Amino acid sequence: MSNPRGKLILIEGLDRTGKSTQCEILRQRLGESTTLMKFPDRTTAIGQQINNYLIDSSYNLPDQAAHLLFSANRWERNDYIRNKLLDGENIVMDRYVYSGVAYSAAKEITGMDLEWCYSCDRGLVRPDLTLFLVNNESNDNREGFGEERYENNSFQEKVRQQFYKLFEKQASLNEDNNDVVIVNVTGCTIEQVSEKIWTIVQNNKEISSSTF
Ligand code: TMP
Ligand code: MG
Repeated sequence: MSNPRGKLILIEGLDRTGKSTQCEILRQRLGESTTLMKFPDRTTAIGQQINNYLIDSSYNLPDQAAHLLFSANRWERNDYIRNKLLDGENIVMDRYVYSGVAYSAAKEITGMDLEWCYSCDRGLVRPDLTLFLVNNESNDNREGFGEERYENNSFQEKVRQQFYKLFEKQASLNEDNNDVVIVNVTGCTIEQVSEKIWTIVQNNKEISSSTF
């Protein structure tokens, strides 16, 4: 009998909410047959262009073109993701379609609404479970905050609003209506957050039916 399909668990959130740390902890907990992936994937040719755009505020691109690069970066990894899951491997993902839509829609460009932003990601492999980390503390003292494009408080607040709009709308955008669980991490230690995440993962009906 072939392996059961692996699970795709996505961790989303604003910048500097501890996603990458938590993704790594979750990957370790899920064990050997789990791969960690992150978007943007800055290792590909498209990803390098995205990296330049993020680190260099004088690098000008039309917002629509920047959006399409982020989407293309997901599409170029889609077969890899699908094949891993079909091979029975789990994937822990650090950002994905929700970030793609929320950050671009937060720019409030005429015509670039949530539907427009989502349309080029339609058809990508869907997560089985999405965890959205929310930290209500100020970013001002967070190490490194402000180094990249988008890392300023007023824009982050707009992105936060777009994430919530998107979660409300997702039933109409995403026929499967996969679970999004909001995880409040305000004031929590790394260990406390990882325990919250682990409890949610273990109790999720989609995930607990699989092998880990
Ligand atoms: P990172 O900090 O997780 O490496 O992501 C870099 C920035 O890119 C972050 O501010 C979120 C933003 N972003 C988008 O604007 N669109 C996308 O599709 C993704 C994945 C990230
Ligand atoms: Mg960042």
